[in-house]
Amino acid sequence: MSATPLEFSAIDAGRHPVFVGRDVLKALDAHLADTPRTAVFILGDENTLRHCLPELLARVPQVRRGEPIGVPAGEASKSLPVCQEIWSYLTARAADKQALLVCLGGGVVSDLGGFIAGTYKRGIRCVHVPTSLMAMVDAAIGGKSGIDLAGIKNVVGLYHDPLAVYLHTPFLKSLGKRDLLNGLAEMLKHGIVRDADHFEAICAAPLHDLDALAELVYHSAAIKAAVVKEDPWESGPRKALNFGHSIGHGLEAFSWEGSQRALLHGEAVAAGMLCEAWLSWRMGLLDRAVCDRIAAQVQNLYRPYPLDDGAQHRIVELMRNDKKNHDGQFRLSLPTALGSVQVDVPATAAQVLEAVEHYRLLVKE
Ligand SMILES: NC(=O)c1ccc[n+]([C@@H]2O[C@H](COP(=O)([O-])OP(=O)(O)OC[C@H]3O[C@@H](n4cnc5c(N)ncnc54)[C@H](O)[C@@H]3O)[C@@H](O)[C@H]2O)c1
Repeated sequence: MSATPLEFSAIDAGRHPVFVGRDVLKALDAHLADTPRTAVFILGDENTLRHCLPELLARVPQVRRGEPIGVPAGEASKSLPVCQEIWSYLTARAADKQALLVCLGGGVVSDLGGFIAGTYKRGIRCVHVPTSLMAMVDAAIGGKSGIDLAGIKNVVGLYHDPLAVYLHTPFLKSLGKRDLLNGLAEMLKHGIVRDADHFEAICAAPLHDLDALAELVYHSAAIKAAVVKEDPWESGPRKALNFGHSIGHGLEAFSWEGSQRALLHGEAVAAGMLCEAWLSWRMGLLDRAVCDRIAAQVQNLYRPYPLDDGAQHRIVELMRNDKKNHDGQFRLSLPTALGSVQVDVPATAAQVLEAVEHYRLLVKE
């Protein structure tokens, strides 16, 4: 009697594959069986080690002898002190160049884990097993890794491709609604920059029905993978994925400074997309109807983030360190229709300020 074939398939992200499907963890086990290594370390945060590690160990016997490395949950773990602790731990365990790091977590773990894997002993291999929606559709795909410094996001980092990414959507069961919506923002973005039908499908996304959501997750991951494959080093088309992120990163960093709730990355990107779609309309690049459609969707899904008068100046100030800036000028990726985007659009500080002010007045209590 022949064994039942495993149900999984590969999405080509160029420099690494993304595996999806029902038996994706069995595929991981089979692939690891063929991957010689001296040790396995499993990086996770307190939530993913609690909610996801037991299932990983049950379904992937190859990692059972792996040593878990836990970091506190949240963006603060993307920091130099946490890196130092992990590098020291690895040296204390005499981890060598043939060690393998399994990154089990959300975008914080994939960004941090990719950075650790890329720098430890000038690079060890890693695999990403994303557990949040944000990481499944975006953060774990494409090899970008990094940490934050002095309140500036992702300012120290490198490209370090994982051997592969394994999307096991049942991990999403333990994710809260706020974190699902957080990841959904990047899926909306994928629709806006590449696929109008996907945007419409995300607008009607069944967040309560993970089986139905899985198909949309795979489609978003495929969009991200296709863009990354086309432009692995972000010299052109990959910049499309920065839509919403210029102003979004400014808002996110601003929210870390104040006494209000800190915005999650996706929440900041959602507000950033509203601002940048409006800016695109102001610059004559986008129809008002499409701009309004994007704004309505953002407002329908995400709580407003009220800003005091004057906050807009600080947000623009915080954007001055944006990696996309060129020669002191802001460079944005702005939508020109549902499904298409123009990259490297120059914008002055005054134009960006006006877009943030538009958001501030729109959500004013
Ligand atoms: N490298 C890239 O291309 C890229 C792209 C997008 C985002 N990012 C980065 O990703 C980060 C945001 O990712 P995120 O939203 O996943 O944040 P996160 O990793 O902090 O995860 C969000 C929360 O969900 C918890 N969690 C994750 N999976 C869970 C599960 N299955 N069950 C229960 N709880 C779970 C985490 O512990 C955390 O509390 C940001 O730092 C952002 O800059 C990177």
